[in-house]
Amino acid sequence: MKVLLEALAPGSEDLALARAIDSERLPAHIAIIMDGNGRWAQQRNLPRVAGHKEGVPAVRTTVETCAQLGIGALTLYAFSVENWKRPRLEVDTLWRLLRVYLRSELALMMRHDICFNAIGRLEELPEYVRIELGDVTRRTSANRGLRLNLAINYGGRAELVDAVKNLIQDEVQVTEQSISARLYTAGQPDPDLLIRTSGEMRISNFLLWQIAYAELYVTETLWPDFTRAELLRAILDYQKRDRRYGGLGGSETGFPDRSLEPIEIPIAR
Ligand code: FPP
Repeated sequence: MKVLLEALAPGSEDLALARAIDSERLPAHIAIIMDGNGRWAQQRNLPRVAGHKEGVPAVRTTVETCAQLGIGALTLYAFSVENWKRPRLEVDTLWRLLRVYLRSELALMMRHDICFNAIGRLEELPEYVRIELGDVTRRTSANRGLRLNLAINYGGRAELVDAVKNLIQDEVQVTEQSISARLYTAGQPDPDLLIRTSGEMRISNFLLWQIAYAELYVTETLWPDFTRAELLRAILDYQKRDRRYGGLGGSETGFPDRSLEPIEIPIAR
């Protein structure tokens, strides 16, 4: 948090927003569905892939800000198992952008002590992408700051299928713990906050198990326009929420004193 406050320009909106954040109640894990690149390009009469290219600086700012804030983990949805249905040119451009991103961002990851981790069915990716992913994963593996999970060829259902196959193979008892321990995010806290850009009210097969109790923040902003200020606003919004996990929330009921009194239920005949 201190790192972010020191990095922001005096008098800026970003600094005012960052100062309003309670550093004691930061989400341990933020997950983001980066949506709207295609529409961003369409609105400017540009090819869809131009929207993906413009999405890269938003990825950079988001990753750097989370690291500076002291967030434990950030998971970004970069490519779903369903995205193979897109035109070949778009898919190939995404792989090329990913390679450029990985090469250009390594320095930033090292500077901010970020540990990079790719999640998804990586074995189905082009070899040159797997090599780059392996390289950045290895080089950042000793870093102890933000854990950056990039979801690539990722599907929540596919992840659960992989976990269950693993359980059967290991002949382990089926419990919530044994399933969690076989997910791609094993050992990490579940996301507290799930952000989705471009206004769609969908989960899109993202982290289905892990987001059971996540707070959702949906913004109309298209991903290339997603700024540091918007990320900070999402965190502030999260900090206003009363998280109940199916209970009543802390020791308070939020209702007047009579709220816990019993009522009479007539027996049905
Ligand atoms: C969704 O927008 C976005 C994607 C499928 C790809 C996400 C990629 C990036 C943000 C850029 C590259 C990222 C890295 C990490 C290098 P969409 O195309 O579905 O948008 P639409 O719904 O408006 O069509």
